[in-house]
Amino acid sequence: MNKWTFPTQIYAGPDSLNRLTEFNNESILIICDPFLKDSPSLTYVIGLMDSKNKVTIYTDVVPDPPITHVVKGIEFMEGIKPSVIIAIGGGSCIDMSKGIAYFGRKLKHMDIKSFIAVPTTSGTGSEVTSFAVLTDSETQIKYPLVDDAVLPDEALLTPLFVKTSPPSVTAFSGMDVLVHALEAYVATAANNFTDALAQQAIELVFEYLPKCHKPTATEHDRMSMHEASCLAGLSFNKAGVGIVHAMAHQLGGQFHVPHGLANSMLLPYVIGFNCSHNPAVAKKYAHLSAKLGFAGHNASEVDKLAALIEAIVTLQHTLDCPMNLTAFGVDKAVSETKLDLMADRALEDMCYRFNPYPANHDDLIGLYKKVL
Ligand SMILES: NC(=O)c1ccc[n+]([C@@H]2O[C@H](COP(=O)([O-])OP(=O)(O)OC[C@H]3O[C@@H](n4cnc5c(N)ncnc54)[C@H](O)[C@@H]3O)[C@@H](O)[C@H]2O)c1
Ligand SMILES: [Fe+2]
Repeated sequence: MNKWTFPTQIYAGPDSLNRLTEFNNESILIICDPFLKDSPSLTYVIGLMDSKNKVTIYTDVVPDPPITHVVKGIEFMEGIKPSVIIAIGGGSCIDMSKGIAYFGRKLKHMDIKSFIAVPTTSGTGSEVTSFAVLTDSETQIKYPLVDDAVLPDEALLTPLFVKTSPPSVTAFSGMDVLVHALEAYVATAANNFTDALAQQAIELVFEYLPKCHKPTATEHDRMSMHEASCLAGLSFNKAGVGIVHAMAHQLGGQFHVPHGLANSMLLPYVIGFNCSHNPAVAKKYAHLSAKLGFAGHNASEVDKLAALIEAIVTLQHTLDCPMNLTAFGVDKAVSETKLDLMADRALEDMCYRFNPYPANHDDLIGLYKKVL
């Protein structure tokens, strides 16, 4: 039986921030990405809110948020006792805020009426997922906190912040959207509902991500990628992802490869791997390839799959994505020493179990070797 609810209320559009005008007499904690500190966009957001609110800004956010940062954030929050928390930033900021709001409510029994996520990357879909990915700084392991209670109460999808996103952030976070949707599409918990969301996200990414990467990107292009990110998040939140994510988490933990870029490097090889081990996956991806117009409907399954992989690789080149760890700047002699450890940890990663084929340790080593 499939049970469907989308607990997060989603406001999408250039005027979605107007939701913030509805608060008054609240203690509002804004947890925001450091790139927004002292920016006109943040000033604009604060200006939208009624002056009777007490607004506090907290910017101690870093990529791949460590658990220790969540603890520091909770300590800070205890002095504020916010009734509303607004997270404005990329997936790292939203995940850290999810941890802070979650433990504030559960452990500190704080009366947080609303936790609002405002994503500034079109990438993780974190604004609508039940995950918060936190890193143990000592072991360099990324742990997902998984609970519906980490879901934001509201998500505001505005093009305001993504409009100024630099090309590399747009590219890497955009590739994360594609990986969410393509992995969700064949994940073990996929169904017609999640497929519909994933397919629409994939179509939007191929059309709008190259446009968003250019300086000529319009508000419509940016908004389309933002919605693709949210759709993919809704899809994988139910369907799961797979070994691209399980393996990419280790590249992020060990070498600080940006999350979307790590996914991007692995994606073409994992698609090939999963297709060669699971005929149903090959059939589904081949069907998708023809549907997206990458191959003719009468082409062979092999040709359709080759066309899908080629379209992904072309997109990666268009976006100037480094294709492997060496191109990203990791010494091959160093990455080789981590292969066993990364494969072991990928097998234990929560995303692994949703992969449509149970890859073993040697399979994962073989896949890692392709991206050294
Ligand atoms: N919770 C989930 O469901 C989920 C899903 C996928 C990934 N993640 C996690 O999310 C994190 C990655 O998030 P991300 O890809 O959004 O990147 P990020 O949040 O780590 O941000 C990357 C960099 O871009 C900057 N940035 C963000 N938005 C910007 C903008 N509009 N303009 C200029 N700079 C901007 C940030 O300050 C940061 O330096 C990883 O830790 C990953 O594991 C979570
Ligand atoms: Fe991701």
